Amino acid sequence: MSERNSGERPFAPLPTPPVRLVPSILAADFGRLGDEVQRATQAGADRLQIDIMDGHFVPNISMGPMFVATVRRFTDLPLEAHLMVSRPEEWIEPAAKAGANIIIVHAEATPHLHRVLESIAACGALPAVAINPASPLALIEEVLEQVVLILQMTVNPGFGGQKFIPAVLDKIHRLRQRLNQCNPECDIEVDGGIDAHTIAWAHAAGANVFVAGSSVFNAPQGAAAGLAALHAALEGKA
Ligand code: DX5
Repeated sequence: MSERNSGERPFAPLPTPPVRLVPSILAADFGRLGDEVQRATQAGADRLQIDIMDGHFVPNISMGPMFVATVRRFTDLPLEAHLMVSRPEEWIEPAAKAGANIIIVHAEATPHLHRVLESIAACGALPAVAINPASPLALIEEVLEQVVLILQMTVNPGFGGQKFIPAVLDKIHRLRQRLNQCNPECDIEVDGGIDAHTIAWAHAAGANVFVAGSSVFNAPQGAAAGLAALHAALEGKA
């Protein structure tokens, strides 16, 4: 990996849309879900992400649209439904009806990406696409202008608490360069292993939306302290 940027070498800074912090509910204490959602909302989260996994596209089963509806009852924040499922077209309408504002489908999960993104918009939600660490940018090149957000996974999807993959940083930078040509308002979101250290790397590479599970809900001093530490890292105060 010597020729790749492992996060220590600075990238040429690029303009990005505004920064957003998005706690991932997967790391919350499900036994106190309402409290956890309200705590993250009061602590200044910009959005919340709900990871929907089917045990097929990823080797784990997490939560379904009913969870989106439950979270919706405790917050007015925008909700992202991150669909890690093999047949995303079957879960878009249930997720939108449950209260998801942004619906993220994996490009690796469907041969009909254009149609699936159109069906998200038809449900009144904002279309977004995710790609795995090893997937080439070419997989989403033809839909760059059809989405409001591109989620570049920084771990292999399926579990929280994993280690950030620095090899993804170059790809984030290339994606930001490409988006600044064709869709400069489009967010680049990163997800997996985001903490006060890796968030600065990903931001320098060109990401502007940061999903964090463990570093928020498992922060020793609580969610508010976890979010504050991420904010401080983004401002270079960590
Ligand atoms: C993993 C999920 C992530 C995960 C992040 O597949 O998509 O949202 O919950 O958890 P941390 O921040 O603990 O890596």
